[in-house]
Amino acid sequence: MRILITLLTSPAYLCSMIFELKQLAVFFEEESLQHLEQVYTQKDYSKVAILCDSNTHEHCLADFLADCPFLPGDQIEILELEPGEDTKSIEVLAQLWDAMGALALDRNSLVINLGGGVICDLGGFAASTFMRGIDFVNFPTSLLAMVDASVGSKTGINFGGYKNRIGLFADPLMVGIIPDFLQSLPADELASGWAEMLKHGLIADFNHYQDLIRRKPKSESLNKELIEHSVSLKAEVVKEDKQEGGRRKILNFGHSVGHALESYYHQAGMAISHGHAVALGMQVELALSATYAGLDSQEASSMIAALKQFYAFPKVEIEAEVFHQLLAGDKKNSGGQLRLVLLAEPGKAVYDVEVPAESIWSSLQDQQQ
Ligand SMILES: NC(=O)c1ccc[n+]([C@@H]2O[C@H](COP(=O)([O-])OP(=O)(O)OC[C@H]3O[C@@H](n4cnc5c(N)ncnc54)[C@H](O)[C@@H]3O)[C@@H](O)[C@H]2O)c1
Repeated sequence: MRILITLLTSPAYLCSMIFELKQLAVFFEEESLQHLEQVYTQKDYSKVAILCDSNTHEHCLADFLADCPFLPGDQIEILELEPGEDTKSIEVLAQLWDAMGALALDRNSLVINLGGGVICDLGGFAASTFMRGIDFVNFPTSLLAMVDASVGSKTGINFGGYKNRIGLFADPLMVGIIPDFLQSLPADELASGWAEMLKHGLIADFNHYQDLIRRKPKSESLNKELIEHSVSLKAEVVKEDKQEGGRRKILNFGHSVGHALESYYHQAGMAISHGHAVALGMQVELALSATYAGLDSQEASSMIAALKQFYAFPKVEIEAEVFHQLLAGDKKNSGGQLRLVLLAEPGKAVYDVEVPAESIWSSLQDQQQ
């Protein structure tokens, strides 16, 4: 077995991290391909459908197929979708179910999601609902999907103007992370994934956050160990609370405001990446953390300033009413109360904090300036 190297060298920590990743069946590099071969040979699959978008088809598919000589060419079907968030829709999902039927996929077929978070979310949902559920695996190709979307069993689509409205928890048989895929990822998409890594640091390991901020969101400063550490922080939380009854909610730091902004800008025709929206959401929620969760206000300001270096608000006026409506649709709210994840201290998040809508709005106004 290959030894995984992390930034944290404590053997006990190292063992627990590897254990958590293995528990969620997350494998890296060559080991992920070996594991896929095992998955494939253990069952007599009738067909293998590889789901990608046109970018991952162009940049990742040939290398992936070359690395998987055990997948017989005559069994493989390629399903290619348009790239982008609009693909995570009920219309595309219906087309995908149709295509899966037309290709005669059956309950003995395997779906390989080869793409970013959109492909992993949509492909996982399509596979786990088609014929009451068929096997799927995730091979994420964007940084965001590697450190976040591919791990943790959340699948789904956007609906009615709301992010991830429809979906279910469904486990991929495995997740294979091959950082080489990042070589073709555009810089703004790398920054998007970087934001989710920063979030993992802010909520669970402040050293990780500081390390990332020092390095800046650039491909040269990213290595397998950083990715692995970020995934393990998520894995540790998910392992404890997969269905998000409690602690898993902390992974939504920056997302209540972030999702509302993402939907808002999307509807306004000024789409920004998911991670960028989360980074803006984190700025607003850090400011609120000083008021509602006891975070030291100077520390909050310095983290906000650090995030602002890389993630700026688009110059577009936000309509209060539309923003409030989007915020109210957030899944984390309860009984009409807006509930946020906030930081009590750097590296420690608290969840279900009730915050009045007016405070969120005024914090957003402050951060936009
Ligand atoms: N399920 C979860 O737990 C979870 C967590 C976080 C985010 N998400 C979801 O993930 C989605 C965002 O994921 P994303 O940022 O990966 O978006 P994405 O899938 O749209 O990918 C971003 C862009 O990068 C391109 N791309 C991906 N890999 C590439 C590569 N190797 N080379 C060149 N281009 C490449 C894609 O074609 C796309 O244009 C959102 O829908 C979000 O809601 C889900």
